[in-house]
Amino acid sequence: MAETIPAHLPGTKPASATIVLAGATGALGRLIGQYLLQRGATVRALIRPGSGVKPEAAALRNQGATVLEVDFNNEAALTEACAGAACVVSALSGLHDVIVDTQTHLLQAAVAAGVPRFIPSDYSIDYTKLPEGSNRNLDLRREFSRNLDKAPIQATSVLNGMFTDLLTGQAPVVLFGLKRVAYWGDAYQPMDFTTTANTAEFTAAAALDPTTPRYLRVAGEVASMQGLQQAASAATGEKFKLFRIGGLGAFGNVIKLTKALMPASDDVFPPWQGMQYLHNMFTGLPKLAPLDNNRYPEIHWTSVREVLATKK
Ligand SMILES: NC(=O)c1ccc[n+]([C@@H]2O[C@H](COP(=O)([O-])OP(=O)(O)OC[C@H]3O[C@@H](n4cnc5c(N)ncnc54)[C@H](OP(=O)(O)O)[C@@H]3O)[C@@H](O)[C@H]2O)c1
Repeated sequence: MAETIPAHLPGTKPASATIVLAGATGALGRLIGQYLLQRGATVRALIRPGSGVKPEAAALRNQGATVLEVDFNNEAALTEACAGAACVVSALSGLHDVIVDTQTHLLQAAVAAGVPRFIPSDYSIDYTKLPEGSNRNLDLRREFSRNLDKAPIQATSVLNGMFTDLLTGQAPVVLFGLKRVAYWGDAYQPMDFTTTANTAEFTAAAALDPTTPRYLRVAGEVASMQGLQQAASAATGEKFKLFRIGGLGAFGNVIKLTKALMPASDDVFPPWQGMQYLHNMFTGLPKLAPLDNNRYPEIHWTSVREVLATKK
């Protein structure tokens, strides 16, 4: 959701800590950068060679960040780029080569530079509660977390459920044309939804907070499919109905079939991976609890209805 972020947060003490941000040209990363700057942090954005010409990099520079092009395979250069930082925040996106390999280079550099804290690119449902093999992308996060937990650095993962913004885009759940909310399993299963902007704002606050625990869990709103039906009706002024496609066993078979027919295994988000994510959420296993929403009370959490109301 497009959002204007004020340059400074009223009433908060400016923080001058240096935060190293990887993935700063991405959808989530650029927002984390803006919220860090708003909180008075010194932001050092690490981007791969060639990406400095991107408009996102120019925007970060204009807002006051230092943008450094660095080869993420060159650990000496990465270590130098991490020097003096209070926290390294990753908002990288990719498959094994990025989430495990590149993030491990970044972690080793952070440790070598003596950075005390690291926030990995997790930003998801609670993968620690999911069985291995149930979600390809979350398995990669679990694999990286094993490296992270062995490293002499304080780690904090931000878990936020599904980006609420996806409900007006890629997630085939709220079917605006048909006025249906389509789901598998139980219409009353609670699930976690947080906007990209709220996730970024919370992550920025966590990056500047030296006392964070291993996991922080937030949800802009906890809603079931029945809740989404009500939110869609309220947001549009039109009556939406629930549409139960089938049970979770049948959904699992559809995912296997989709994966066999359309593997696209080099895509970060092929259709079957989005389906795995929804399947995980529908089981209730990765439900976030307890929630840390009140940790930074200045954050206003955007509701599902507010996001659905932006659908043109
Ligand atoms: N919970 C949810 O529903 C949800 C939804 C979407 C995303 N996410 C998560 O949010 C995080 C960020 O995703 P995003 O959508 O913001 O991703 P994105 O827009 O695709 O941005 C990815 C960033 O990673 C950088 N990058 C990728 N490969 C790299 C490499 N090999 N070396 C260095 N930099 C590399 C990109 O840099 P370049 O500009 O150089 O390409 C870009 O800055 C990920 O963990 C993603 O899984 C969660």
